[in-house]
Amino acid sequence: MKDTASLAKTLYIKTYGCQMNAYDSSRMADVMAPLGYTQVAEPEGADMVILNTCHIREKAAEKVYSELGRLRKLKAARDGDVIVAVAGCVAQAEGEEIARRAPVVDMVFGPQNYHRLPEMLAKLGRDGGPVLDTDFPVEDKFDALPKANANGAPTAFLTVQEGCDKFCTFCVVPYTRGAEFSRPVAQIMTEARGLVESGVREITLLGQNVNAFHGDDAGGKPCGLGRLIGQLADITGLERIRYTTSHPRDMDDELIEAHGRVEKLMPYLHLPVQSGSDKILKAMNRQHTGDEYRALVARIRAARNDLALSSDFIVGFPGETDADFDATMTLIKDINYAQAYSFKYSPRPGTPGADMENQIPDEVKSDRLARLQALLNAQAAAFHGAMVDRELDVLFEKPGRHKGQLTGRSPYLQPVHVDAPTALLGQIARVKIKAVQANSLGGELLRAADREVA
Ligand code: 5AD
Ligand code: SF4
Repeated sequence: MKDTASLAKTLYIKTYGCQMNAYDSSRMADVMAPLGYTQVAEPEGADMVILNTCHIREKAAEKVYSELGRLRKLKAARDGDVIVAVAGCVAQAEGEEIARRAPVVDMVFGPQNYHRLPEMLAKLGRDGGPVLDTDFPVEDKFDALPKANANGAPTAFLTVQEGCDKFCTFCVVPYTRGAEFSRPVAQIMTEARGLVESGVREITLLGQNVNAFHGDDAGGKPCGLGRLIGQLADITGLERIRYTTSHPRDMDDELIEAHGRVEKLMPYLHLPVQSGSDKILKAMNRQHTGDEYRALVARIRAARNDLALSSDFIVGFPGETDADFDATMTLIKDINYAQAYSFKYSPRPGTPGADMENQIPDEVKSDRLARLQALLNAQAAAFHGAMVDRELDVLFEKPGRHKGQLTGRSPYLQPVHVDAPTALLGQIARVKIKAVQANSLGGELLRAADREVA
């Protein structure tokens, strides 16, 4: 086992699943930095490997065990001289089982415990077995974390809310991430200011159910997401604000109004609907109908008419008939999405959906998924196609694939490749869109955007 006290060590973190996990991984790197660990891009040769796992669908959870198989060989080849840790939602849900099934693992900890990584490291090897930490501690992990580090990138995630109280019948999140919790506004503002000072121009506010956000304001009163976005928009140098993922039931008036009022709030919204059938929506415990979702989208579009929408869909939820599936296709046609994620229903142990009758055969799920994705892909292609000859603001994030090129994002999150000087990295510039590729746009630089970049 490694001596954990000496300096200059390397850490490899593999992140699965959602953006919240990506945020958590970068915060784990922040926690480990004072212990002398720098992050590396490959597991080979690393002193410590953390798998930050996802439990949302069966496939995602299975990947952990196959990766642990690979790590077992890597560890054996190095005479055990690597610390292997499993973090995230699989760790939370199956902690003991991981420890039992995979002796290669030295540490298992949940999403609420990674601020205690130094303590866990100190315990390593003391009792022989792996160090397990998957309880929901009462202390605020965010209070215990060091300052967020954007590593010079112009975009960053910022977790404002965690957990979920909605209990959609297909979803493990309320079990793995626990009850809804919002960070206090002052703590979020401090983190946001720090990120902007380090060069961040765009912040994506994260939460499993981000628009349920109700963090305490300075007076101890609950503040909604709309008001928080308004306050963040006052930070000089912060140019773009996004948030994800939202539940339709939590789109309150203040948040809808923010879409019309706050220019820095980007006109792109991920608002999962999952299904267009009222019967299935009810069985999923989504607490709204298809028409209520349509009416909600109409209200948000009335506030911000260039709003582009994205969604998640599940096909083959128990009891889904052809007519239910057709209702989903109709809803997609009615809304017209710019982008979407779609999945075959995956029964998750412990969730009500897994015990429902009328589970749908896999062939039916596959067939429906293919038809749904064909429609969504056609809508996405039409959305991208409509950008040609338009002028868009692009925030340049990194060098492009070709020499002299930079890659950035449009307000609608589309990657845009442009011939532009490196000096524009981290800046927003006006770009005329000239070409559409499969998942990105190509454009010509016009000028730095009118808005001053601090
Ligand atoms: N099966 C399939 N998809 C799921 N999702 C969540 N749970 C399941 C499941 N059991 C999808 C939902 C959610 C997204 C993050 O993952 O569409 O919005
Ligand atoms: Fe899962 Fe989202 Fe439903 Fe919460 S709102 S239970 S995170 S799908």
